Amino acid sequence: HPPLRVAVLGCGVVGTEVVRLLTTQASDLASRAGAPLELVGIAVRDVDAERDAVVDRALLTADAESLVERADVVVEVMGGIEPARSLLLRAIAGGASVVTANKALLAQDGPTLYGAADEAGVDLYYEAAVAGAIPIVRPVRESLAGDRVTRVLGIVNGTTNYVLDKMASEGLDLDQAVKQAQALGYAEADPTADVEGYDAAAKAAILASLAFHTRVSIDDVSREGITSLTADDVLWAERTGYVLKLLAIAERGTADGVEGVQVRVHPALVPVSHPLAGVRGAYNAVFVEAEAAGELMFYGRGAGGEPTASAVLGDVVSVARHRVLGGKGPIESRYAELPVLPATAA
Ligand code: NDP
Ligand code: HSE
Repeated sequence: HPPLRVAVLGCGVVGTEVVRLLTTQASDLASRAGAPLELVGIAVRDVDAERDAVVDRALLTADAESLVERADVVVEVMGGIEPARSLLLRAIAGGASVVTANKALLAQDGPTLYGAADEAGVDLYYEAAVAGAIPIVRPVRESLAGDRVTRVLGIVNGTTNYVLDKMASEGLDLDQAVKQAQALGYAEADPTADVEGYDAAAKAAILASLAFHTRVSIDDVSREGITSLTADDVLWAERTGYVLKLLAIAERGTADGVEGVQVRVHPALVPVSHPLAGVRGAYNAVFVEAEAAGELMFYGRGAGGEPTASAVLGDVVSVARHRVLGGKGPIESRYAELPVLPATAA
């Protein structure tokens, strides 16, 4: 099979590691995908900025629009709503398969993208958008498709988990701990998205949509972040046998006699004996409860360049295989099984 042309949009924390894997694992990726994956360009804002040595500067471009038109697979790791949305729609309209880590975009306007991909008959994959390296999107979407999920609960933001951990273990205040999370590449470009719970709410909306086969947007999620918590609160919780964690919860519920799904994000006191209490640093964990399967737990590194790139490359191999061997991806564009109920606070 001739090489598949891969365009990477963004070369920051995640994009650099995506480029590293595409470059250093080229031969293994080619055998897994069924065709060589040829990196044809990397879109950035500033082509003159200093970059990791793994980045071939000749591939850098500030013209993302032209780049997507000459790619078979477009990997979006730039973040934000625009121009990411327009670029992905352009890529899809041009027949490219797309892979994105952009939970903010998917939680705000996923159905537009799913619909466009469905219409164009191309894949739109986004394993990296929820919980970094943890395989959670595919298991919820595919492995549990024959079951009836009743609840999804977890720690899905690495930055806040790291911050709460540092407040407990080193007595740091929130701002100091956030600076550390930024330096380690865990935080969003604007860390307000992490500490105010928007990032966790976006992931909760994506997971809820998949688990309950419906369309939950970030606006449907009741959200409270961790900014009102002090180091004293965190230490008090530990002294009384609890750990403070930012939890995302999506579950079946009833409002005005209508059964539907309710989704919320808020800090919670988790007993030290609970498995979630042991989730430290930028790790994430997600529990899924389903009627036949019972309780499942997914655990791993939830943020950072390398773990996220691992999930991105897994998607790249999947969509590349589909292009080489034929076959179509998921069908979220047709989901509408359950009504989404008004969100309620904790
Ligand atoms: P960074 O801010 O580190 O990198 C963003 C990259 O995108 C930069 O290279 C930047 O260019 C480029 N970029 C931004 N806007 C534009 C634009 N308008 N045109 C061209 N290039 C642009 O972000 P991250 O790598 O941390 O995150 C990327 C995405 O991955 C986000 O959607 C984020 O939510 C998601 N994600 C991040 C994780 C993490 O742990 N960091 C984990 C899971 C998902 P330049 O370098 O010139 O500034
Ligand atoms: N800022 C996000 C987090 C990155 O801290 O979890 C991973 O999605």
